[in-house]
Amino acid sequence: TRTHDEEGLPHATKKTMADHLRRLESLFTLTPQRMRMIVEAFKEALETGLEKNDQVVPMIPTYVFGWPTSKEQGDFLALDLGGTNLRVCLVTVQGNGQFELTQSKYRLTEEQKQDDGQKLFDFCAECLKTFIESNFSGENEVKAPAKLPLGFTFSYPCSQAKIDHGVLIRWTKGFGAPNTEGNDVAAMFRKSLEKYQLPVTLTALINDTTGTLLASHYVNPKTKIAVIFGTGCNAAYMERVENIPKISKLGIDPSSEMAINCEWGAFDSFEHEHLPRTKYDTIVDESSNKPGEQAFEKLISGRYLGEILRLVICELIDDGVLFLGQNTYKLEVAYCFDTAFLSLMESDPTDELLMIIGIFSHFFAVETTLAERQFFRALAKLIGKRAARLSACGIAAIVSKMGYLDEGCLVGADGSLYNKYPGFPDRVHEGLVDIFGDKGRNILTCRAEDGSGVGSAIIAAMTKVRKDAGIY
Ligand code: GLC
Repeated sequence: TRTHDEEGLPHATKKTMADHLRRLESLFTLTPQRMRMIVEAFKEALETGLEKNDQVVPMIPTYVFGWPTSKEQGDFLALDLGGTNLRVCLVTVQGNGQFELTQSKYRLTEEQKQDDGQKLFDFCAECLKTFIESNFSGENEVKAPAKLPLGFTFSYPCSQAKIDHGVLIRWTKGFGAPNTEGNDVAAMFRKSLEKYQLPVTLTALINDTTGTLLASHYVNPKTKIAVIFGTGCNAAYMERVENIPKISKLGIDPSSEMAINCEWGAFDSFEHEHLPRTKYDTIVDESSNKPGEQAFEKLISGRYLGEILRLVICELIDDGVLFLGQNTYKLEVAYCFDTAFLSLMESDPTDELLMIIGIFSHFFAVETTLAERQFFRALAKLIGKRAARLSACGIAAIVSKMGYLDEGCLVGADGSLYNKYPGFPDRVHEGLVDIFGDKGRNILTCRAEDGSGVGSAIIAAMTKVRKDAGIY
């Protein structure tokens, strides 16, 4: 056994778990003052993104013009390539905030995320084919129109020159399929649709945030902003065309409105000037497949929170603070600690923290003391709370830029973190009050409508209306 730690301190003065917790608390806690500074920098980044192309926060014009009228109608297919699943939906938009939806989900493997891009789109087309065959066979077959319009929700940053086109700027959320970045993914997907001879027309390429914005507004017109807190983190809102200087030469009516996909996950990438990154965040970043990129997302989204916690645990194992005398090799695997475990740890209702016992013994074959379990729970809280408070900074930046604070607005929110992490929405709201004072209560997040399915269909419907009217 060691009697001195690396700094040569006698064993008796070695840092305890409580000392470490205090240290971690100061690393992960965001004061209201710090949050306000982040909001200011964030606002500037949003403005710069609207002014010029190729900025850190790209502020992508989506060519989704204005809000739905609620008169949109028809049957639409929606294909959603998100961070974890592939989903195919058939949506019947019925007007007046009503819709019906049938869907199938397919799991994406890690290999598929790294395999050739065209193969990934081929897999999407294959799943779509299976879906169409099972939903339009038998008595439904007669109902299927010759060519169904399809909204493709592709939730990665794509620069668009029109609604049914989009060049992938970069993969995010751990995807890395070669031969895709820099290409028009709509064209690639059309190629796969042709290969499988599918009776569909790709009418719109949509980001999940844009879909969420439109779907949430369709059912509640007070919605002005949409945010995804899932595997990735991003937001969209509606902007007046005259406030998007970088497209001023396109001759679009300056008084019209267009949805902006902010891609705010990229805020503070590369320079890392504004966000409070800890050494654990630096390790997450440097060992990711995209070092330097998605700096904001890496502090917030479901893909990374578990990994941040795992890195803290591993450091304390190395320091001889945790799991003394046990074999902890199972905890050494990167990304083995699911963000869902943080939710579970925070919501464990038992005094003994039995769920935490279960997580560590079942998944990592280690036993925990009550003190360790309390420590893990406190740590999950620090990491989860920081994520929620940073999210509040992003929302506050849009609210303040758009002047929504006085009249208030709804923020449609979706994603596993928002829907499943206990207390996440409350923490975002607390954060907004810390930033804006009492007025922060005017900004409310609420569970969004299914943006990638319903939103995608509504956008496809809006596009059809414009096209039929010759405004395309
Ligand atoms: C990532 C993607 C973005 C998406 C978000 C949520 O940030 O880059 O396009 O909206 O994840 O899925």
